[in-house]
Amino acid sequence: MNNNTLIKVMVPAIGLSVALVVAVVGYFVLQSWWSSPPAVLGFGDGPTQPIAFPHTTHVTDAGIDCQFCHRKVTTDEAATIPAVAQCLFCHDFGKIDGTKSTSDTAAAELAKLFDDSGEPQPVNWIRVHRVPDHVQFVHAPHIQNGVSCTTCHGDVASMQVVEQVRNLKMRDCVDCHRDNNAPTDCATCHY
Ligand code: HEC
Ligand code: HEC
Ligand code: HEC
Ligand code: HEC
Ligand code: HEC
Repeated sequence: MNNNTLIKVMVPAIGLSVALVVAVVGYFVLQSWWSSPPAVLGFGDGPTQPIAFPHTTHVTDAGIDCQFCHRKVTTDEAATIPAVAQCLFCHDFGKIDGTKSTSDTAAAELAKLFDDSGEPQPVNWIRVHRVPDHVQFVHAPHIQNGVSCTTCHGDVASMQVVEQVRNLKMRDCVDCHRDNNAPTDCATCHY
């Protein structure tokens, strides 16, 4: 076999193996992405909420604790979203009609909480995280066992708009339960 025939055999052989490797790697990348999208890619931007409520301003700048607003998170199933009355605890009527000092941004956004007669209206916040109805998720035991908000929700304190950063699909839940000796029988999460 001279050099020329060797090259004629080798070139397609190398080409074929490169194609095979690309296909196999591609398959696994796609497959793992499909079953659990990597957190770095995120899950797209958070929704546009009826009021531009920035966690950054409240948590990082004003230093308000998560549980000040999400009051039930240590004791109940749902963390709960604060009612408008709770916003008005800090942003009172006077501030909203501009007679007291508050930032223009805050005043403009908070004005949307009131109807024409000046009554505060409930806000239809758009849900960011949501497990299907057949799944039971309870916040309390997680917080009581030292799982931090950040573990599941990412660094909300630095989010202008809350977005989902962790998969939180069944495999994700079960993997963490297994690693922490938390229950993994079906009835734990499914009624
Ligand atoms: C001043 C009140 C306030 C504080 C403090 C606050 N939040 Fe919130 N949070 C809200 C409001 C209002 C919403 C609903 C609007 C939204 O999604 O941005 C919300 C939404 C969320 C959501 C998304 C809920 C969903 O629909 O899935 C998460 C997660 C969250 N907060 C976590 C945190 C964490 C973690 C902290 C502390 C680092 C925190 N919050 C501090 C008021 C607050
Ligand atoms: C514990 C006090 C406190 C509570 C409760 C609170 N806020 Fe604020 N909020 C602040 C402070 C402090 C600022 C920063 C100063 C300012 O802009 O007035 C602020 C700023 C804002 C801003 C302007 C943000 C910006 O980009 O300048 C909006 C909008 C706002 N708050 C909405 C809300 C809503 C809606 C709620 C209820 C879900 C709420 N706040 C509950 C203290 C609070
Ligand atoms: C083990 C993961 C996990 C941890 C830890 C966790 N969450 Fe959640 N959170 C979720 C899941 C899953 C949902 C969606 C629940 C549903 O659809 O019923 C959710 C929903 C929420 C919501 C919106 C719905 C509701 O429950 O009111 C808020 C607000 C929230 N979380 C805040 C927090 C805060 C604040 C902390 C920390 C004190 C925290 N979460 C810790 C997984 C977690
Ligand atoms: C980061 C780790 C982690 C993740 C992610 C996680 N969990 Fe948990 N879960 C725990 C721990 C730790 C406990 C407490 C177990 C105990 O009481 O000893 C727990 C407890 C629970 C309980 C109460 C179990 C009982 O009866 O004591 C339920 C229900 C639950 N988790 C559902 C879920 C669901 C649904 C998801 C996904 C959406 C999820 N968890 C994601 C760590 C996690
Ligand atoms: C730690 C919590 C947890 C446990 C334990 C768990 N699941 Fe799930 N399961 C989930 C969550 C969260 C979802 C919804 C998200 C998803 O589709 O992955 C889900 C979804 C499902 C679905 C619907 C899948 C789909 O495509 O819609 C089925 C079926 C299911 N689980 C069966 C089971 C069975 C059977 C077991 C016991 C072997 C089990 N689960 C144990 C959390 C759990």
